Amino acid sequence: MKKRSQLGSFIAGIALSTFVFATSVSETMIEAYTSQTGQAASARQGEVLWMSQNEGRRCSDCHGEDLTKAGKHIRTKKVIGPMAPSVNTTRLRDKKNIEKWFKRNCLWTLKRECTPREKANILAWLASQ
Ligand code: HEC
Repeated sequence: MKKRSQLGSFIAGIALSTFVFATSVSETMIEAYTSQTGQAASARQGEVLWMSQNEGRRCSDCHGEDLTKAGKHIRTKKVIGPMAPSVNTTRLRDKKNIEKWFKRNCLWTLKRECTPREKANILAWLASQ
């Protein structure tokens, strides 16, 4: 019986993740950020930040505007795999990796770390792609 219900929730989990591309990692991270700020995550605001110019720098410089397509590092010209979890199953699976790149990329792009609110919004935007 126990086995059966575990299998059931496993299948439900797969079904859910094909509709919303959020992973349990991104969901847990969004929950943690929004509990710090008390504000719901907004994918729309995440998108605005992703596309916005900050003294000539944007997240999309390296990752592109269509997240289902590969990006290209603006300086090294190295290909960066698509950010959309719908086409790249390695995305939003590893909290440490996400935190590491948030730190590095927010510092490069915005010249400061992203706030918990911005991170929640960006994760919501990425998870919807
Ligand atoms: C100068 C190039 C560059 C810019 C600009 C950039 N990134 Fe990245 N980003 C990278 C590289 C390189 C990686 C690591 C390679 C990979 O994951 O394919 C990465 C990985 C990530 C990841 C890891 C996702 C995962 O689950 O694998 C996140 C999140 C991320 N970037 C967010 C951002 C955000 C938010 C911005 C804008 C504030 C941004 N990046 C701007 C180059 C960039």
